[in-house]
Amino acid sequence: MSCKNTSWQYAEFQQVGTDYADTAEVARYDSRHSDFRDLEVEALRVLDAIEIRNTDVLIDFGSGTGTLAILAARRCRRVHAVDVSGAMIEHAGAKAAGQGVANIEFHQAGFLTYEHNGPPVDGIVTTFALHHLPDFWKGIALKRLGAMLTPGGRLYMHDVILEEPDAIENIAAFIDMLAKKGGASMKKDVERHFKDEFSTYDWVMDGLLGRAGFTIRSKNIDGGVLGTYLCVKN
Ligand SMILES: C[S@@+](CC[C@H](N)C(=O)[O-])C[C@H]1O[C@@H](n2cnc3c(N)ncnc32)[C@H](O)[C@@H]1O
Repeated sequence: MSCKNTSWQYAEFQQVGTDYADTAEVARYDSRHSDFRDLEVEALRVLDAIEIRNTDVLIDFGSGTGTLAILAARRCRRVHAVDVSGAMIEHAGAKAAGQGVANIEFHQAGFLTYEHNGPPVDGIVTTFALHHLPDFWKGIALKRLGAMLTPGGRLYMHDVILEEPDAIENIAAFIDMLAKKGGASMKKDVERHFKDEFSTYDWVMDGLLGRAGFTIRSKNIDGGVLGTYLCVKN
């Protein structure tokens, strides 16, 4: 499914919110995010959750600085790391090469524009990336991801996803918690996330996933704000 020949396809290469095309932003990403998450521990948890096998081919959408793609590549046959930011792709490529990891293909593309050439893949992961698309385009993206997955293939998604009751209070508590960990500039970044980017409700995400042909195997919304979905393609 693609609308790429229309003049109204969402411009996913245009940076909205944090500018991940900025090389300085990319260079400080890992250390900045380590103020509030352990990127490697998180990535290993994702790979365990999707029960990655050494024969698997995996796509990571919004692969960023490549931490998950590199750890995945050590445990599976091939990884496709997809990101709209050329600066991220370059940074992750250099990081992989520096660690002697050669079974990752890097693609400067996005949820709406990546064309997968090859047989359907076994797993797709995406962490903190789908919120870059407005909801209608999330739906299109999820249908595209479904078409790239083999039946029974796994989709793991982790992102800012909101529960409806107390959303405002939960967001405020989340911003406060991150500000305590990362200071004023972190507070500004998280506030920008809610002002400019497109996090959605879990009930919207449930519907989008179901309509895109996924069964939700497990779902957790931590603090009413951080969502983790493990899904299987029907
Ligand atoms: C917050 S970072 C997350 C990076 C990494 N997955 C992680 O968990 O740390 C968001 C990433 O998504 C990328 N991105 C933004 N819009 C995208 C799109 N439409 N398709 C694919 N990647 C996108 C950004 O360039 C950036 O590298």
